[in-house]
Amino acid sequence: MITKPRSWSKNTFLFGGVSLWAVLLISCTMVDRAIVAPPHIAGASFVGDKECAQCHEETVKGFEHSTHAKLKVQGENAKGLGCESCHGPGSTHVQAGGGMGSIVNPGKSPEACFQCHLDKRGEFSLPNSHPVMSGKMTCTECHDPHKGKAIKGGAGHLTSEKETCTECHTAQKGPFVFEHNAMREGCTTCHNPHGTVNQKMLVQRDSNLCLKCHLQHPAVDGNATIIAGGEDHRTRMQNGTCWVSGCHEAVHGSNVSKPLRY
Ligand code: HEC
Ligand code: HEC
Ligand code: HEC
Ligand code: HEC
Ligand code: HEC
Ligand code: HEC
Ligand code: HEC
Repeated sequence: MITKPRSWSKNTFLFGGVSLWAVLLISCTMVDRAIVAPPHIAGASFVGDKECAQCHEETVKGFEHSTHAKLKVQGENAKGLGCESCHGPGSTHVQAGGGMGSIVNPGKSPEACFQCHLDKRGEFSLPNSHPVMSGKMTCTECHDPHKGKAIKGGAGHLTSEKETCTECHTAQKGPFVFEHNAMREGCTTCHNPHGTVNQKMLVQRDSNLCLKCHLQHPAVDGNATIIAGGEDHRTRMQNGTCWVSGCHEAVHGSNVSKPLRY
């Protein structure tokens, strides 16, 4: 069933697009006040998700409950700009029965994502980041644009976040005889996977990274005592970070050292 293609016209914004604007306005806080402009395809207009379902049934079905499906236009005139917000207007593609080159496939480039997630371009440009800008990696290696939560195994499914990371980082996978309990909180407790100014994409560059869990207690003489393994760490802390050579190098886990020394 082919419905009349709709163009991204002024009317769309004034009438059919009222709730789209609502969604976009809500999202402004998160997307850094970016103005959303779907990719442009010469001569093509928007047709809505239902059209896509004719040929990409599985994808459309899975998409219904995804984070990005919330971008759809709701209500009477709902045509669902969901798919086309990333892939561009689909009329030419539909008319051509799916002809190659008639629709945007953002697979290899993060540009489609940056349209709305402007702040992420900045994060991935920081000195320590996953090599997305150089094209060696894509957003979709960690995020599913089509199904469920966009963050693979996101909130509440920490094992899955770990699985996503350890698909590539096998050394951190374990199991370890002595696993660092912090690993249960997920890799993002200590790393920002998009990028940071700190070495190894750490969220904090110094021992404060560890001290947020390993509390610092004021001692009688006013100096801080680090309670870790029941030991006073005052002098050791002068060596640098907790994970310098000779200290807790095996910060993810160890098969031989309970205090994660090596
Ligand atoms: C009439 C059938 C048909 C409809 C309707 C259709 N597609 Fe396609 N689409 C195809 C075919 C066929 C291919 C090529 C598939 C392949 O080779 O795996 C394709 C490929 C694609 C690709 C990959 C293109 C590439 O260059 O890698 C995307 C993205 C896509 N479609 C999105 C959409 C979206 C979004 C809609 C709705 C606006 C849509 N399609 C509607 C048939 C269709
Ligand atoms: C949030 C952005 C986004 C939305 C929304 C989106 N897609 Fe995609 N789509 C992508 C990306 C990114 C890829 C490339 C995936 C890859 O290469 O790993 C892709 C790839 C595709 C492909 C090529 C085959 C494949 O799976 O790799 C098809 C077909 C497709 N999308 C159809 C759809 C349809 C239909 C919808 C709506 C139900 C939709 N997409 C919504 C981002 C999106
Ligand atoms: C048309 C604008 C738009 C595009 C394009 C877009 N996003 Fe989003 N994305 C959003 C909005 C708005 C939200 C917030 C939705 C919410 O808060 O429920 C979001 C949320 C997310 C989230 C958080 C999900 C969650 O469950 O909390 C991730 C991850 C994400 N997007 C990744 C991507 C990736 C990867 C791409 C490119 C393939 C992409 N987005 C393209 C608008 C967009
Ligand atoms: C190496 C894996 C990885 C890559 C690559 C990646 N992300 Fe993420 N992203 C994550 C994880 C994990 C989270 C959840 C962070 C958390 O829970 O603290 C996340 C969260 C997000 C969020 C929601 C929270 C926020 O920070 O705003 C958005 C939006 C997002 N990513 C967009 C993107 C975009 C766009 C790209 C590509 C340019 C991308 N991500 C590439 C792993 C990745
Ligand atoms: C698709 C594979 C892949 C996935 C998935 C992945 N990474 Fe990476 N990671 C890489 C690559 C490639 C590098 C860059 C290595 C280099 O530059 O030598 C990297 C680098 C890193 C580094 C810095 C290493 C260094 O020596 O500076 C950290 C930390 C890291 N990733 C953590 C994570 C976390 C946390 C996740 C999950 C949210 C994750 N990675 C998911 C491929 C991946
Ligand atoms: C308790 C905090 C913490 C957690 C949780 C954590 N890391 Fe790390 N990670 C670190 C620190 C600190 C370093 C730097 C070690 C160094 O430079 O010697 C590091 C380094 C790395 C490196 C670089 C390794 C190298 O040899 O240079 C990778 C890759 C990495 N982490 C991946 C992960 C993954 C994947 C997870 C989740 C499964 C994870 N990390 C969880 C603190 C953590
Ligand atoms: C998210 C909270 C959290 C963070 C962040 C964290 N840890 Fe832990 N760590 C724990 C928990 C919980 C335990 C197990 C209980 C305990 O022994 O205190 C533990 C245990 C340890 C142990 C083993 C103590 C023993 O003798 O059994 C060492 C060593 C350690 N952590 C070092 C570090 C270092 C170094 C960092 C910073 C890179 C760090 N931790 C960051 C939560 C955390």
